[in-house]
Amino acid sequence: MKPLRILVIHGPNLNLLGTREPEHYGLQNLTTINEDLIATGDKIGCEITTFQSNHEGELVERIHQAAAEHVDGIVINPAAYTHTSIALRDALLGCHIPFVELHLSNIHRREEFRHHSMLADIATGIVAGFGPTSYHLALQGLAEHLRANRNT
Ligand code: DQA
Repeated sequence: MKPLRILVIHGPNLNLLGTREPEHYGLQNLTTINEDLIATGDKIGCEITTFQSNHEGELVERIHQAAAEHVDGIVINPAAYTHTSIALRDALLGCHIPFVELHLSNIHRREEFRHHSMLADIATGIVAGFGPTSYHLALQGLAEHLRANRNT
């Protein structure tokens, strides 16, 4: 079966994983998370590309690039931009790429300003609260969704 091409996007401050607020985000760093995701992708027939940026515009441009490359789906932890970014919402809407939003922490158990997501209502699905496992659940869910849609 042809592999699915999945772009994994990490938003601002996620380059600090491993040392950043471990009580919320755990001790795994981004390199390890990406390596583990690529390994999971291999097992379930997904070719993974990863991207991290602390800049909203770069994230928007990476989404545009993904559309030009015809990637099959996006797994995105928009980090703080989850709660603020109309630009990311518009990029995802404009590019018509199915995506899953994920968070390491359960944003609904935290401060009220984290409860709202600018992306959740246009996402295929959302995952939150499982630490780095959230990425794997998001990838698995998206892959199953894309395969189910391919076959219809
Ligand atoms: C986060 C939750 C966001 O509220 C926060 O700004 C982050 C990380 C998470 O993965 O739990 O940077 O997206």
